[in-house]
Amino acid sequence: MTFDTIIRGGTVATASDTFSCDIGIKDGRIAALGDRLGEAGEIVDAGGRLVLPGGIDSHVHIAQPSGPGIVMADDFASATRSAAFGGNTMVLPFAMQQKGESLRQVVTDYHRKADGHCYIDVSFHLIIADASEAVLGQELPALVHDGYTSFKVFMTYEGLALSDIEMLNVMSVARETGALVMVHAENYDAIRFLTDRLERAGKTAPHFHGTSRPIPVEREATHRAISLAELVDVPVMIVHVSNGAAMEEIRRAQQRGLKVYGETCPQYLVLTEKDMEGLNMEGAKYVCSPPPRDEASQAACWQGLQQKVFSLFSSDHCPFRYDDPQGKLHPKGRTSFRWVPNGIPGVETRLPILFSEGVKKGRISLNDFVALTSTNHARTYGLYPKKGTIAVGADADLAFWDPERKVTITQSLMHGGADYTPYEGIEVTGWPVSTMVRGRFVVRDGKLVGTETAGQYVSRAKSEFAKPRGRHDFMP
Ligand code: URP
Ligand code: ZN
Ligand code: ZN
Repeated sequence: MTFDTIIRGGTVATASDTFSCDIGIKDGRIAALGDRLGEAGEIVDAGGRLVLPGGIDSHVHIAQPSGPGIVMADDFASATRSAAFGGNTMVLPFAMQQKGESLRQVVTDYHRKADGHCYIDVSFHLIIADASEAVLGQELPALVHDGYTSFKVFMTYEGLALSDIEMLNVMSVARETGALVMVHAENYDAIRFLTDRLERAGKTAPHFHGTSRPIPVEREATHRAISLAELVDVPVMIVHVSNGAAMEEIRRAQQRGLKVYGETCPQYLVLTEKDMEGLNMEGAKYVCSPPPRDEASQAACWQGLQQKVFSLFSSDHCPFRYDDPQGKLHPKGRTSFRWVPNGIPGVETRLPILFSEGVKKGRISLNDFVALTSTNHARTYGLYPKKGTIAVGADADLAFWDPERKVTITQSLMHGGADYTPYEGIEVTGWPVSTMVRGRFVVRDGKLVGTETAGQYVSRAKSEFAKPRGRHDFMP
């Protein structure tokens, strides 16, 4: 066979193996793995670099409505460009419903924002904010059928938080349709209680954001989400877990045989609550939910990754500009932490941080790195084996890594829409130098060579972990 491209001279790693071989690519797919593959339109010399499945970041927020006067720092072009420079070949953002909105219309509008503006491939999760009968009875099952096979629900945030009965109703739809439920687990009432009291005591600086949502707030909601999922007998993914107590809730559920899965993020490995204590409003740069905690929580999150309590490592990229009235420093005299938009940029730094802190420091293997950043995302969200691995038949979505390159993370290296990185000054060893999506370079040797029309929308199958199971016995 004559290939379009042969990649030669790289060390290939998947979630299970590391080996040396050439990769033959034809029509955007991997057509052969082996030695001396023969002729190709182009021979790419990997030059001894690592060739890994491109990162899949299954938890990012792009161009999402964010409250009056607040605008997210990234549109699809800037977010997917930034992601590509960070070694990713696919991202999964959220089409977010607001109360009263048709879910179908939300998805249509989100496609309008994304289509033709993506450097890498994308697929959408849904966010369910309005668990009405029309949404749950008609729109949601139809959308799951159409390939929107996962959705997130929130147990906190004004306008987004679902009550327990709403959670149960949403989970029942997931059970019947085989969709996967992702849960943001924090106790809304407890946060409101603490926020009101902190404000009355004049404790309004950004770092009180952490005080307003301490670990028990997350642990309780995690426990409750698991209990509700157990009641309905449906798999559930607890996203952005920040600490050991919540992690142990997930572990206990897993040990009891429940299909409960967990995700953690870079901010819980390398940031702490102290970062929110910056001078004046600087701490706002680190305000996200759940908040970064302490060193013991960092250690617990590492344990969760090493012991496979967490199967996903995502960025929860949710960028707002700092020095911008539409971002973290917005006007109207709203000086309390309550008004700081929650979320931090991270899609470009997720992989280098885990590679350096995890693989290079001996905490996880290279194969576990691939699993946590790519393969498990594809399996969890109905993309495998088209995405998330290096195998014959898979899309040629690849990241080329220089495992020895030393880089100090700094904003001037970033390619997204934010004006800061919360990881400023962190030194990493190992850097993604090139990224290829379906056989075409998007970033090559650190230069952007792709276009914002190259990325495709990928309709997804159901999660490997969430098969449709019909109504529960106790349902009428
Ligand atoms: O603070 C965060 N994480 N903002 C993003 C939205 C979410 O809850 O994931
Ligand atoms: Zn969340
Ligand atoms: Zn998020």
